[in-house]
Amino acid sequence: MRLLVCGAAGFIGSTFVELRVREHGDQVTVLDALTYAGRRENLRAVEAGIRFVHGAIEDPAAVAEAAEGAEAIVNFAAETHVDRSIADPFAFSVTNGQGTHVLLEAARERGLRYVQVSTDEVYGSIESGSFTEESPLRPSSPYSATKTGADLLVLSYFHTYGLPTLVCRGSNNYGPRQYPEKLIPLMILNALAGDPLPVYGDGRNVRNWLYVEDFGRGIGHVLEHGAPGEVYNCGGPDECENLEVVGRILKLTGADESLIEYVTDRPGHDRRYSLSSAKLEGLGWRARTRFEEGLSRTVDWYRENAWWWEPIRSGSYREYYERHYGRSLKR
Ligand code: NAD
Ligand code: DAU
Repeated sequence: MRLLVCGAAGFIGSTFVELRVREHGDQVTVLDALTYAGRRENLRAVEAGIRFVHGAIEDPAAVAEAAEGAEAIVNFAAETHVDRSIADPFAFSVTNGQGTHVLLEAARERGLRYVQVSTDEVYGSIESGSFTEESPLRPSSPYSATKTGADLLVLSYFHTYGLPTLVCRGSNNYGPRQYPEKLIPLMILNALAGDPLPVYGDGRNVRNWLYVEDFGRGIGHVLEHGAPGEVYNCGGPDECENLEVVGRILKLTGADESLIEYVTDRPGHDRRYSLSSAKLEGLGWRARTRFEEGLSRTVDWYRENAWWWEPIRSGSYREYYERHYGRSLKR
């Protein structure tokens, strides 16, 4: 296929592009604004086979240039970190809301298939059982509220204009190249450096962990086999409390339990996420990677790829860390 993939210099988008080029021979144009979370080196493995347009999804001229020749748009571009959305929410409305709208207009003008990459956070928190695609939408944070608005806009373009739009909602991803503001890479890098491991609240919040390649293949499945106007959940095979995640990382890195430090809880912190993926499994998708195996692979990747994370930990991430956690990183 000829794809325009937006936000593919980030964690999940770069994995998706690698899979599509390697396993499907797709022709890919990437549109990415290269924010703090986006890096050209994330696309190193496919650099020779893609066209890269540096620009923002809320800029119609950049989108028009990037959409030339595309058959479909897959949108990963977003502001993605819940804590940043609490501290500084406006960038989230612009990218996640307005940016998605500009992409939808570009798809409408050209009659393109459109897949929106979304999140389980649109459903809010669930004490027991799992969310289906029919569950009510109850987002808690500015991040998830803007993602919910975007999902509704995407679906409105199907109902109003008959545009073949689809939504794929993933659970918590982990794997290589995830920016270290997120729980798993943050804890791995702090453990390797001997920095404290900041656990929010009582550490008993539960997340449904999905290895990034499994999500990449799930989105590919929705792109190829999904029905227009439909939503598909894509959840991981294992759920885990944050404290258990941290305990496993301590074991895998050989760091000491005394590094765990309980810190002030995130405002409006969702207690538990859990997705039923039965609908996507009905299209033939399955999560292949169990948490134990994926986490061990991820720790190995961070150990072996200091070239990737050292510039981040010594760059603007240090200031973010100091601002957010009120202490500095050792190195
Ligand atoms: P990320 O933060 O690693 O990457 C985001 C990418 O979008 C970066 O390359 C950044 O430069 C780009 N970007 C940001 N603003 C842009 C703009 N205005 N115009 C163009 N590009 C812009 O994100 P990720 O974790 O890879 O998430 C990708 C998508 O998947 C997001 O839509 C997110 O909501 C969704 N999602 C993430 C997870 C997760 O656990 N990380 C789970 C479910 C869904
Ligand atoms: O569920 C999908 C979502 O997963 C995506 O839509 C988001 O883009 C992605 O950021 C992620 O959101 P979370 O808020 O669940 O992920 P995060 O890694 O920020 O936090 C995971 C859990 O760990 C959460 O309960 C908060 C906790 N946490 C996080 C950090 C950064 C800590 O205890 N300490 C920390 O320092």
